Amino acid sequence: MKKIGLLGIAYNVPDKVLTNSDLEKMVDTTDEWITKRTGIKRRHIISDPKIATSDVILPAAERAIERSKIDKEDIDAVLIGTVTPDYFFPSTAAMVQKKLGIKQAMIMDFEAACSGFLYGLDIARGLILSGNYKNILVVAADLLTKITNWDDRNTCVLFGDGAGAAVVGKREDAHELIDVLSSGDGKLGDLLILHGGGTVNPMTKEMLDKKLQYLSMDKGAEVFKWAILEMTRISNKILEKNDYTSDDVDWLVPHQANIRIMEGVAKRLNIPIEKVVITIQDFGNTSASSVPIALSKYYEDGKIKEGQLLLLTAFGGGFTWGSALIRW
Ligand code: ACO
Repeated sequence: MKKIGLLGIAYNVPDKVLTNSDLEKMVDTTDEWITKRTGIKRRHIISDPKIATSDVILPAAERAIERSKIDKEDIDAVLIGTVTPDYFFPSTAAMVQKKLGIKQAMIMDFEAACSGFLYGLDIARGLILSGNYKNILVVAADLLTKITNWDDRNTCVLFGDGAGAAVVGKREDAHELIDVLSSGDGKLGDLLILHGGGTVNPMTKEMLDKKLQYLSMDKGAEVFKWAILEMTRISNKILEKNDYTSDDVDWLVPHQANIRIMEGVAKRLNIPIEKVVITIQDFGNTSASSVPIALSKYYEDGKIKEGQLLLLTAFGGGFTWGSALIRW
């Protein structure tokens, strides 16, 4: 029987590695603080400012298409979740479609910050159910280091760059997307925000002098609390809706923002830490790409096995959050 699901998945990160000891030389921080408070040891970052988000996406997208065993000509939509697009417009999806040499397709970017991959799966599933689309390239990618203030120790130690890509289609051998839920609430959006460059604070010298072109996080501890609360809530919701309990889950694949957030969600869901996919030590918080990088890495390492039940969950700026159930 044909099922809607993932046909192939892959990730890509830039080659350059920035360690906690490197950061010790840049801001007033220590390896010990970063490791203890976040779980991060290193992150991959772009080595050349000319590298664009679409450049980092390309290898991930090519590998995902190859693994899905479809012809790239059969992709009829490219959806990209990113808060760091190549340009305001045309979309990064337009850049990726052009660079991949895919025929004409629906090309669209959307913003859901760290929940980008889950929102993308939700949109792709809806498009396939409409009957008008067959194979959709869902990409979640961010180069947060491009919008990081390297003088701000509160944020610069947290982020890394990366891209994750999956082809979603309907086939007998698809990793079945059993269900996906997306949600959000803008009322606390100011806690995690990039103030400059948009229509509220257009690009001016004054705006740049105030450093508004960089992301800012107010009250990290508040973001921390909401992340645990909403990821737990939406994970319980999707399990209940589909008649599963957390005992049925083989792998929890959470957004990799902070090891303590992941531990908090796992504890509240009664999922042992051995069943939690953890890649934050090597990549940091890669925003939208964090969930597909984590999933793809464990899949490539042979840890995720056929038939296993995966619970994905993410939380990010907006605030946005989501969950998905996948039968691998
Ligand atoms: N090195 C050393 N000390 C630091 C650093 C640093 N890099 N950063 C902050 N500190 C200090 C603070 O100044 C503070 O000092 P003070 O007590 O003298 O004022 C102290 O450490 C503790 O600060 P807290 O904010 O209480 O630390 P906390 O334990 O909350 O950890 C952190 C901070 C890691 C940011 C955590 O709150 C967190 O992970 N928050 C969630 C971030 C997140 O999930 N973002 C998700 C969305 S990201 C997206 O959508 C793009």
